[in-house]
Amino acid sequence: MNQPDPGALYSHHLSVLKQRADQALARGGFDHLLIPSGTLHYQAFDDRDYPYAVNPHFKAWLPLTRLPNSWLVYTPGKRPKVLFHQPFDYWHVVPDAPSGWWVEHVDIEIIRKPEDALALLPKDPARCAILGEPQSTLGPFAPNNPEPVIHYLDWHRGYKTPYEIALMRQAQRLGVRGHRAAEAAFRAGASEFEIHMAYCSAVGQDANDLPYGNIIALNEHGAVLHYTELGRSAPTPLRSFLIDAGASACGYASDITRTYAATGHDEFQAMIGAVDAAQQKMCAAVRAGFDYKQLHIDAHLSLMEVLRDFGVITVSPEAALATGVSAAFFPHGIGHLIGLQVHDVAGFAASDRGGRIERPHGHPYLRLTRVLEPGMTVTIEPGVYFIDMLLEEVKQAGHGASINWDRVDFFRPYGGIRIEDEVLCTTGEADNLTRPPFAALD
Ligand code: GLY
Ligand code: MN
Ligand code: MN
Repeated sequence: MNQPDPGALYSHHLSVLKQRADQALARGGFDHLLIPSGTLHYQAFDDRDYPYAVNPHFKAWLPLTRLPNSWLVYTPGKRPKVLFHQPFDYWHVVPDAPSGWWVEHVDIEIIRKPEDALALLPKDPARCAILGEPQSTLGPFAPNNPEPVIHYLDWHRGYKTPYEIALMRQAQRLGVRGHRAAEAAFRAGASEFEIHMAYCSAVGQDANDLPYGNIIALNEHGAVLHYTELGRSAPTPLRSFLIDAGASACGYASDITRTYAATGHDEFQAMIGAVDAAQQKMCAAVRAGFDYKQLHIDAHLSLMEVLRDFGVITVSPEAALATGVSAAFFPHGIGHLIGLQVHDVAGFAASDRGGRIERPHGHPYLRLTRVLEPGMTVTIEPGVYFIDMLLEEVKQAGHGASINWDRVDFFRPYGGIRIEDEVLCTTGEADNLTRPPFAALD
């Protein structure tokens, strides 16, 4: 399949960002937008740095994720300027000279020391909206993160440009390559750590690049929602494998989860198939005008239907939802916005002027409460888990009879099931970004 070239789409992307910045600066009453790329920080009582994480506002403008001490300077009506920090340094590899599709669209000034930026930044810091963390302060240029500016930019970041979607598709292809390698390692009897290494090697990324820490869980470990331990030996017998792992493309994230049963575990495999079928229906519900909160509630009902079909709950899905039984089996949100950050910003925003759309009562972990609109990219990640701590609470609350405990005992050793795809909301049908790369490798 021919994939769109992000380079060919960058100039349009930049024009959208300039328009957004013009509006945001007008809202905040500023003349310039300044975005430091971020700095390296020492760890406590040590001379080693924390891993560098680029300012997401910076990588929105530029496909540069490893360029500390640099600045993006934008003044309405002018070309964006990049103060590109390329130090003289023989201790570390310094960033290559600027190159690539972006360079012809911006003015570039090379700086050799962070403080060289001072002479190149606008004259009056008070006229600047400076978006960043406190450590990026340079002389009188301290990040002020004005709320009207941030609200506006964060809200509009929810709508992806074609350039961003092209990069997100690239992040999917990379992640799927890793998922295939991870499944093969699982089938070969590898440990969690070995599966992780197989994943990283296939993607060509490690902890410094991946959008979040890989979740590689064998057997009951699948019941720990953010299991990141990476056991060094494979348990016996191997029953199940849950992997939640993504990849980055120029700073854009993918976030993909699959669950597998070991050969011979047919009933768990059948339950995976049922959750997978339900998940695909949820993905198809990603349509303009649909309230994501409703999608989350609908997901509870369809997952409880699966659990009733497998004899795990004894009551109707509606009753399970009303009594909190469903939340014990599906204790997280159905998903979130994704893009420059794996959990992208403004999931609760009521408008580009701020405000908040609250979560439905009893659903404290939902990360997106907005109505879906074209250009939004969301994850759809239903799951069912067998978590003793939560099931015990159901019992304490007097709803123990809603559950067939023998069936819980049967499924507990498998941990849980989660299936997660990214879906782009369009003006028509949902565009699942994750499934086609899997199908292409079949
Ligand atoms: N990987 C984190 C999440 O699915 O939200
Ligand atoms: Mn995930
Ligand atoms: Mn996710």
